[in-house]
Amino acid sequence: MNLDKNLINKLVDITSNASIACHKYIGKNDKLIADKAATDSMRKNLNKLDIDGKVVIGEGELDEAPMLYIGEKLGTGKGPSIDIAVDPLEGTNFAAKNLPGALSVMCITSRGNLFNAPETYMDKLAVGKEVPKDAINLDFSIEKNIKNIAEAKNKDINKITACILDRPRHEEIINKLKDLKVNLKLLSDGDVAGALLVTNEKYKVDIFLGIGGGPEGVLAASALDAFNCKFEGRFLFKTDRDIDRAKKMGIKDLNKKYDLTEIVRGDSIFCATGITSGDLVNGVQLRNGKYVTETLVTHKNSSINIVKKEVAIT
Ligand code: FBP
Repeated sequence: MNLDKNLINKLVDITSNASIACHKYIGKNDKLIADKAATDSMRKNLNKLDIDGKVVIGEGELDEAPMLYIGEKLGTGKGPSIDIAVDPLEGTNFAAKNLPGALSVMCITSRGNLFNAPETYMDKLAVGKEVPKDAINLDFSIEKNIKNIAEAKNKDINKITACILDRPRHEEIINKLKDLKVNLKLLSDGDVAGALLVTNEKYKVDIFLGIGGGPEGVLAASALDAFNCKFEGRFLFKTDRDIDRAKKMGIKDLNKKYDLTEIVRGDSIFCATGITSGDLVNGVQLRNGKYVTETLVTHKNSSINIVKKEVAIT
């Protein structure tokens, strides 16, 4: 079923307003306050929409953020049944420390079409649409994935760029990439944006890989689906509590590898508004007495755009 196109503009307003709400906390070195401002704004505005909404991906517990929690009902209850994934402030450190790349992100699908992801880590892999879908695989070695991408793109391996979170857990992968002479783009945070860098050659990223948040993986996957890119994810469960929760969510095979079609089905709308400027979009700007926001919007069944909004300062 197609989502109502009128929702696109309304969702852009919601992530724009969340970004603006967060804007005054940029550089205050307090990520919880910044996150709460974005979350409160998002909840307030989602509750005004004529939808029967349900949060299926909420704010991660990984950082014990003030949450829009999984299962939370949103909207007036009068409209279509919608599943919602939110990350009101993706890149809490970026906002707190006034660094590039903080985003306000959300995605919607019709009820039942968005994967209900546990709040745990996910091993991820993404490539652009130029690479055949069977050329990369989480079960292939790093060498094989890189070689296949180089072949598909008709590039030397030393011209391939891999984007990955700069974390000690990735030391082995990063060393292998270095041995292969692959160029690195190491992220300090923000792997929703990192994954989306494979969507366009202008970002000069050929593969996104590594372990980051599961909820962030689902959000990135929903946008990558609209770009016709390839994404695979596999959850990683460290503790018994993680495993119990996953089982309660209906996950039987804990080692299962998910591809895009299992994470997001049918039509979807994804919005990511810049809070601080980054690779994908500019952050909130003040111009002629107004806030100006920039949002990357994908609507699976119609279009992909960068939308600018002017919002009066109140
Ligand atoms: P927050 O916005 O919740 O701080 O998340 C930032 C982030 O970098 C995500 O983009 C990423 O998926 C996750 O943290 C990685 O977690 P960790 O910092 O534990 O490696």
